[in-house]
Amino acid sequence: MGVEKFAKKEVAALMSRAGSSTRASVGPIEGMINLGAGDPDFNQPEFINKAVYDAMVAGHTHYSFTGEPDFKEAIAKYYKKYGVDIDPKTQVLITSGGSQAIFQAFAAILDPGDEIVVFDPAYTGYNTPIAYFGAKMVRAKQVKNKDGIFRPDFANLEAVITPKTKAILFCTPDNPTGTVWTKDELKKLAEICVKHDVIAISDEIYTEFIWGGKKHNTIIDLPGMWERTMVLMSFSKTFAWTGCRAGYIIAGPELMKVLAAVPVGICSVPVPFQKAAIKALADGWDFVAEMKAEYKKRIDYMTKRLNEIEGVKYAKPEGAFYLFPDISSFGMPSMKFAMEFFQKEKVRVAPGSAYGEMGEGHIRFALVRPVEDLEEVCKRLERFVKNLPPQAPPAVP
Ligand SMILES: Cc1ncc(COP(=O)(O)O)c(C=O)c1O
Repeated sequence: MGVEKFAKKEVAALMSRAGSSTRASVGPIEGMINLGAGDPDFNQPEFINKAVYDAMVAGHTHYSFTGEPDFKEAIAKYYKKYGVDIDPKTQVLITSGGSQAIFQAFAAILDPGDEIVVFDPAYTGYNTPIAYFGAKMVRAKQVKNKDGIFRPDFANLEAVITPKTKAILFCTPDNPTGTVWTKDELKKLAEICVKHDVIAISDEIYTEFIWGGKKHNTIIDLPGMWERTMVLMSFSKTFAWTGCRAGYIIAGPELMKVLAAVPVGICSVPVPFQKAAIKALADGWDFVAEMKAEYKKRIDYMTKRLNEIEGVKYAKPEGAFYLFPDISSFGMPSMKFAMEFFQKEKVRVAPGSAYGEMGEGHIRFALVRPVEDLEEVCKRLERFVKNLPPQAPPAVP
């Protein structure tokens, strides 16, 4: 019908390039194991379900224009664990999960033609909102250190900043690489943001999932950063709340005024869920500890087992619950590898190239299935790679 003519120019462009994503649903397919999307396989505990119901019964079913004040207070109290004092009234904005936090952060600052630097590899959910606002995503490399862990390349970052750069977006702990930024790395980034007068958008939605004694640090309280940082947070992973939708942005009071001016209407997290989220922040930590113990088991199992599969190189993640092994020795583009693995073995993984050029030669496993399923995944992977024809390795980007 040619309805594209009605579409906003950026939307029409997005329509024409719409393709597969890790979030696209497939199936049901008999025997499929889906490690594509990062949707935790845990259900929220009963006491949180009950808190939603109790809030409705108590009459918390009315407009909530900028979010519930007691929810914002609970968030400020929680974030204090990172040594940062936040004024809940002026420094917290409630969003419908991390995706709305991303959208609202971009909506607040990006004009058509602006540039935003996103590290490479990076979570794919930044790409289309940037395009929607007519801005340009510029990539700065993460490069692997001798232990195979991706780290930010600051020389490359400085080289890609231009007078059009509005913001630098990074993620710690990182999806897909599992990198947890060190204090020194955050300091370097803060200095660069101040020097070039740009905003840091710090995606911290995996803060609760850190392994091997590392600690989460935040950039927001480093010198000069209060007025130029937006911290994006979500309950999706922390409390396995991907369907319930709750998230927030933390920023300094001046930047918060810019964020709050985005016309999203009323707060889009239903009030009973905001009330239940308060309960989760108060009493949900045993549940989080159980999930963490289970993820740790999965990571330990997978890293040991992948070691036995010839040609697969991996680094143990410092955070989050993904594995991003290097499969470049098989000489196949990661998209082809992921597609053929799915067609032949019914295992869904994400191709590393989806996360940027630096992700090529990798695949991402989201460890959202129990160890028994992961055992089966490794068996199928072993069989799949054994049957691959020998090929010349591709050029490393
Ligand atoms: C790094 C990162 N940021 C943001 C999001 C989006 O969060 P939500 O699922 O709460 O919308 C995700 C989801 O996978 C993510 O991995």
